[in-house]
Amino acid sequence: MRSCMLLAAAIPLVHGVRIIQSNDDGWAEANLRTFFNVLDKAGQQVILSGPAEQQSGTGSNDAAPTTVDADGCIHASCPGGSPPTGANTTDPRLNYVNSFPVTSIKTGIDVTAPKLWNGAKPELALTGPNVGSNVAIQAPFSGTIGAATYAAKTAKIPAIAFSGVTGDPTAWNAPTPLHSKVYADLALNVTQTIINSGKPFLPDNTFLNVNFPKVESNRCNSASQFKFIFTRINTGLVSARDANWCGSTRLPWEADVILFRGSDCYVSISPGDANDKTTVNDAAVQQQIINKLKPILSCLP
Ligand SMILES: *[C@@H]1O[C@H](CO)[C@@H](O)[C@H](O)[C@H]1NC(C)=O
Ligand SMILES: *[C@@H]1O[C@H](CO)[C@@H](O)[C@H](O)[C@H]1NC(C)=O
Repeated sequence: MRSCMLLAAAIPLVHGVRIIQSNDDGWAEANLRTFFNVLDKAGQQVILSGPAEQQSGTGSNDAAPTTVDADGCIHASCPGGSPPTGANTTDPRLNYVNSFPVTSIKTGIDVTAPKLWNGAKPELALTGPNVGSNVAIQAPFSGTIGAATYAAKTAKIPAIAFSGVTGDPTAWNAPTPLHSKVYADLALNVTQTIINSGKPFLPDNTFLNVNFPKVESNRCNSASQFKFIFTRINTGLVSARDANWCGSTRLPWEADVILFRGSDCYVSISPGDANDKTTVNDAAVQQQIINKLKPILSCLP
């Protein structure tokens, strides 16, 4: 009896992909926690390591974590004067790092995850969904993209950065907003598609920059209404031809898809170069990524 129960308890540990999660809005943000919950429910092994405080716009900054200031962690999620790093008291998978987004994901990859996984490192890094879009010229400043590119370039872990237009900072323990639920479901779909495509999950030194458009009470309000469009981070007017896709050798621009056609419920997925946070311009590498995402991609009309 007892050994049966132990066996049953051990089963979840041997299934699923080892995932590290982070963001730049803080470890206690509703978008991030809602995504954690759906990944966990889908059977993935997830460890969250996010900044103690709001760290938007901090790009690729990295510095040793310090004691939490007198105000405490974001949304009163830890008391003032807490140690530089810490975990939720009942769930060791939920962790804060009082520093930049890059530092928080690095600490998760190098310290927290191996401690909880018997020395094993994460196989996939997911950041966000960021509160607010990260398209085109916003990309270099984003801590959400900074953390993803750190994972892809420095830690050599395939990474996806997610961002959503709708919403304001919201505490993890407030009623979950509709947009957080929709974005988490959409992010799960992209994540499962990449996992199902097999390893390597993405080509070396690349990441995906995924943006979700507006979610409104009367439109684009459930994941099944959305279409996924393969796009570019920058317009690419003068760059070499893109992969031949949707009858063209120039991919649409993510800003156009998200900001100007957002009410058509289009999600943009751009292949990102982790070295400089711009589009992967190599058409052959673009094609490898298209092949992985094909089960969910649509063309613009
Ligand atoms: C810690 O985890 C518990 C159990 O999941 C939850 O009820 C609580 O709200 C969490 N607190 C923080 C700050 O994450
Ligand atoms: C993922 O998105 C695709 C394309 O919209 C859809 O056909 C599919 O049903 C979605 N998968 C899940 C698990 O929601």
